[in-house]
Amino acid sequence: MNYFSSVFEPKPKSEGDAGTPAVRYSAVIAGTGFAVPEKILTNEDLEKMLDTSDEWITERTGMKERRIASPDEAASDFALRAARQALDDAGVRPEEIDLIIVATVTGDMPFPSTACILQDRLGARNAAAMDLAAGCSGFIYALATARQFIATGTYQTILVVGVEVLSKITDWTDRSTAVLLADGAGAAVLKAKTDNGVGIIASYLAADGSHGADLFMPAGGSRIPASIESVQQRLHYLKMNGSAIFKVAVRSMADVVRRLLEQTKLRGDDIKLIIPHQANLRIIEAMAKLLKFPMERVFVNIQKYANTSSASTIIALDEARRGGRIRTNDLVIMVAFGAGLTWGGVLVRF
Ligand code: ACO
Repeated sequence: MNYFSSVFEPKPKSEGDAGTPAVRYSAVIAGTGFAVPEKILTNEDLEKMLDTSDEWITERTGMKERRIASPDEAASDFALRAARQALDDAGVRPEEIDLIIVATVTGDMPFPSTACILQDRLGARNAAAMDLAAGCSGFIYALATARQFIATGTYQTILVVGVEVLSKITDWTDRSTAVLLADGAGAAVLKAKTDNGVGIIASYLAADGSHGADLFMPAGGSRIPASIESVQQRLHYLKMNGSAIFKVAVRSMADVVRRLLEQTKLRGDDIKLIIPHQANLRIIEAMAKLLKFPMERVFVNIQKYANTSSASTIIALDEARRGGRIRTNDLVIMVAFGAGLTWGGVLVRF
């Protein structure tokens, strides 16, 4: 038998093949999971550390408590726990994963990527692996990227993780950022399905780099490498212009929702749940008001976890699924904005 002929010679076409449209693959969310540190830091704890109050934090942000990593915990520790949960939920073994994308700006180290560290720790030996940096929109960017690999038929099974350990880049003397930021990880397993109209049915991504200086960490890259001076000048911490970000966040998230509805010819009434990035309850409420979308159908868990950046939408999705807020066939929009600035969303039929 000529082995190569069976591989390279085109199979004879049956009559039914003529005009058959090419197979299109949908990216279906087959499993989710999340992991947060054990240590809880409450607003009352922050009152003892900074010139702030529970009243200010609750009124201005909606946050009550957040999870903070211990000194020896890093991003891949939480990513691993979240990934194992998502794989269990999807009934997928690590060797079946074709690609791992980890959305993060606080990986274990500048390189290798946290995705490679996770690949090794999971035993996902058949997976390609890469990190993706898009600030708090990272998980949405990663979902949209994974969807493309599935749509083209390149990969069948992709693990997408959003993880941050923001506490390690937080200036704990700066009350304007320290009360907002937190740690955690979430993961989703995407599977290819030939059933069109399910899974991620639309996505939209955007960026405006001209606002980069409104949310950034100045040092630690090739512009300002680590030095005694960079540490003394506190340049290895996140810096933020909160009110500038606030305005862009509300407008951009509302715009994303409108565009996703336009793309799919759906209406707000068709959407069961919006899962927004959990940066500030007032941002979420302002977005809902702009869209005339009822807050009862907007998922909020900011009071428990504060802002976990690229982990926030996937932690929220997992809680919404496990809490019975999402059922088969429901349409759900996930939407986020973040450093870059970046923003984007996906529309998913479960
Ligand atoms: N406790 C008490 N007072 C405070 C605190 C605090 N923790 N932080 C700021 N204040 C004070 C300010 O000093 C200011 O006082 P002043 O009037 O005497 O100068 C006053 O509160 C009002 O400050 P504003 O900045 O105007 O307060 P605002 O209502 O805008 O809320 C906030 C600030 C919460 C930061 C808001 O602007 C916000 O949420 N912005 C968006 C943040 C965001 O989403 N960032 C992106 C995500 S972060 C990431 O990507 C990892």
